[in-house]
Amino acid sequence: MFYLKLIDKCIGKKEYEMYQDIPKHSVGYDNDLYKVSYNEYLEKMNYYVQNLTKSFDDKFQCQTNRYIFYVDDTPVGEVGIRLVKNDFYLKGGSQIFYVIRKSYRNKKLGYVLIDLIIKECQKLGFTEILANCDTNNIGSNKMLAKHGKIIKTYSRNDGGTSNRYKIIIK
Ligand SMILES: CC(C)(COP(=O)(O)OP(=O)(O)OC[C@H]1O[C@@H](n2cnc3c(N)ncnc32)[C@H](O)[C@@H]1OP(=O)(O)O)[C@@H](O)C(=O)NCCC(=O)NCCS
Repeated sequence: MFYLKLIDKCIGKKEYEMYQDIPKHSVGYDNDLYKVSYNEYLEKMNYYVQNLTKSFDDKFQCQTNRYIFYVDDTPVGEVGIRLVKNDFYLKGGSQIFYVIRKSYRNKKLGYVLIDLIIKECQKLGFTEILANCDTNNIGSNKMLAKHGKIIKTYSRNDGGTSNRYKIIIK
């Protein structure tokens, strides 16, 4: 069974181990729980939970729901959904982010995950999702292209290029 769970309902050892199986930096996802102690992990997770209903994301000033993606009882990835549709997200920012732990990649779980993200966005009242992805990130592009269309391709300040997708929620 595949499902998403808000992180306030699932902070434990198995989830800690999952974060140790996600590299610190990937294009489009930074794991600040990598190689921290279990106690530090608990502190950080509790901070996220306490601030879930507030504007906890200092960088983007936006309430963000974070979920763990499970296959049966195994945590295999993480998702963020930005709840506030401010100018930053409507004009350029990505309203979602996601990652799958290394040992579970290339098993087609990315496609399962994007279906779950869309269902969750629908529950949250979204009628469309705007999401960005590095043009070289084949897996993520394929996930977004399953339901969405590229509306623009643009150059970033770091020299790379990204595709911006729009997914219409039916
Ligand atoms: C992007 C990511 C979530 C994809 O997850 P995944 O479970 O490995 O993806 P899937 O197994 O469902 O693969 C989806 C498609 O992409 C392809 N793919 C996945 N990773 C690939 C890679 N590294 N190189 C080439 N193709 C790749 C798969 O072959 C599949 O294509 P197919 O159906 O034509 O065979 C995962 O690679 C990841 O967590 N990356 C780091 C974080 C990240 O990039 N997040 C997105 C930021 S925009």
